[in-house]
Amino acid sequence: MEVLTPSSTPATLEGLDGDKEHGDYVYMYPPRQAYRNFDPATSAGLPDLIATSLANSDLLNLYLHVPFCKQICAFCNLYTTRLGNDTDLRGYVELLIAEARLYARMCERKTVQTFYLGGGTPSLLDPRDVEALLTRVLRLFMADGTPPPAEVAIEVAPETVDAAKLRDLRGAGINRINLGLQSMVAQEVARLGRRRPESRSHALIEEALGVGFANVCVDLIYGLRHQTDSGWETSLRDVIELSPHTVCAYALTSRPHTGYRRQGFGGAEAEVLYRRYEMAHQMLTDAGYSQDTHVRWTKKGGGYLQKEYHWGMQNLLGIGAGARSYLWSVDTRNGYSIRSRKDALSDYTRSISQGHLGIVDGFHMSAEERARKAIVLGVMDLDRAWFEELTGSDPVALYPEEFGILERLDLCTIVDDRIRLTERGRKYRDIIVQMFFSDAVRRRLSGFRYLE
Ligand SMILES: C[S@@+](CC[C@H](N)C(=O)[O-])C[C@H]1O[C@@H](n2cnc3c(N)ncnc32)[C@H](O)[C@@H]1O
Ligand code: SF4
Repeated sequence: MEVLTPSSTPATLEGLDGDKEHGDYVYMYPPRQAYRNFDPATSAGLPDLIATSLANSDLLNLYLHVPFCKQICAFCNLYTTRLGNDTDLRGYVELLIAEARLYARMCERKTVQTFYLGGGTPSLLDPRDVEALLTRVLRLFMADGTPPPAEVAIEVAPETVDAAKLRDLRGAGINRINLGLQSMVAQEVARLGRRRPESRSHALIEEALGVGFANVCVDLIYGLRHQTDSGWETSLRDVIELSPHTVCAYALTSRPHTGYRRQGFGGAEAEVLYRRYEMAHQMLTDAGYSQDTHVRWTKKGGGYLQKEYHWGMQNLLGIGAGARSYLWSVDTRNGYSIRSRKDALSDYTRSISQGHLGIVDGFHMSAEERARKAIVLGVMDLDRAWFEELTGSDPVALYPEEFGILERLDLCTIVDDRIRLTERGRKYRDIIVQMFFSDAVRRRLSGFRYLE
C-alpha cells in the first residue's frame, strides 16, 4: 500500500548532495492528499467560510475544469474522463455556468485577475462555447469598471487543434495558451498513448506563435518511461529553437492506478530526474530564458499569472468536476477519482443540477496553516514585509531553525528584506518546502491511502 510521508528533516537536507531523493512537485499547500471529508459542523458552515474568504479580498482568480480527454495518457493522475459519443460538452458548459452563479451569489463583484480553463482537455470545446463561457462567467463576477483579466488561458492537447481552431480561440479572448506537448520526440509521445508526428509538434508551436497569443507556453515532462537523456535534450533543443514565451519542465510524478503503474513502471530514479532538471536549466538559461520557478523558464511576455497569484495567497475559485478552490480560510475540491473516473462527474452533475455546490472534501485553513502555506509556496523569493503584513509575524522569527539550516547549507539567502532560494536551493525546492509542513498535515499525509 502506497503511503505519502514528507521526509524532509534537517537530516535529509544534510544529505541532499547524493541526489538520492526527489520530492513530488508541491504546487499547493496542503497537498491534496491531506484533504478529507469535512466534519458535519464544518460542512454546515462551508458556505459561510467561503463567503468570508471571498469577502477578504477584492481580487479573484477563476479556474474552470473540463474533465474530458480523447485518451487517458499513461502517466496521468489528473481528474479526467474518457470522451464518449454521448459526452455533452455544451451541457457541461451550462453546468459550469450554473455553479459559477452559485458562487457569484455568495460574494460582491470583484476584479478578476485571471481566468484559466484547465483539464482534462478544454480545447475539446468549440471556441464559440469557450467565448460564451468566458463572457457569461466574467459577467457574474466582474465589478463595473474593472479591467478584464490580465491572463485568460487555456490548456491545449495538441491532437485537438489546428491553425484555424487556434485562431478562433484567440478570437474568443484567450491570450495565454498552454500546449501540453510533454515531448517533442514522436516515439516518446506514442508511448504515452498519443499519436503525433514530430513535424506536428513543431508546427503547433509555430502556429500558436503565428496566431499572436501574448503568451505561448510549452509543457514538457522529464522522467518519462523510455525517455533517454538524448531524447530529453532533443525535446528541449527543439522547443528552444521555436522560442515560445514560457517553457515548463515537470519531473514525472508517478502515482498508483495510472497506465504507467499497470505497465510496471514506477518512475525514474531521483538521480535521473535531477540530471534532467539540470539539463533543462542549463539549456534554457543559455538560450536566454530566465528561471521563474523550479519548473518554469520564461522570456519577455512569459509566465503563469494564475499560479503566481495563487502562490501569492490570492483567492482562487475552482469551478467544475474535480476542480479545487484555494481560498483564504478553506481549500475545497469537487470530487476526484482515477479508479472510477466517471463517478466524480456524475456526482458533480447531480449536485449542480439540484442547485447545490459540488464540494466533496478539502482542508480548513487555520492562521498557522496559512502562514505555512505562504512560506511553502513563496519561499523561492519571499518578501519578509509582505509576509509580516499577511500573518503578523516575521518568517525568520517564526521558523529560525529551518531558515538557519537553509542558510548554512547554501540553500537560501536572507538579504535585506527578502528570503531567496539559491540556485542549489531551487533544485531541491520540493524537498526543502516539506520542512514547513505542519504536524497535522504530516499526519494526514502519512494516513493517506491511494484508494481513490
Ligand atoms: C494540469 S496539466 C495539463 C493537462 C492537459 N490535459 C495536458 O495534458 O496538457 C499541466 C501539465 O502538467 C504536466 N503533468 C501532468 N501530469 C503529470 C505527471 N504525472 N507528472 C509530471 N507532470 C505532469 C503536463 O506537462 C501537463 O501539460
Ligand atoms: S495528461 Fe492531459 S490529455 Fe492526457 S489524460 Fe491527462 S488530462 Fe488528459
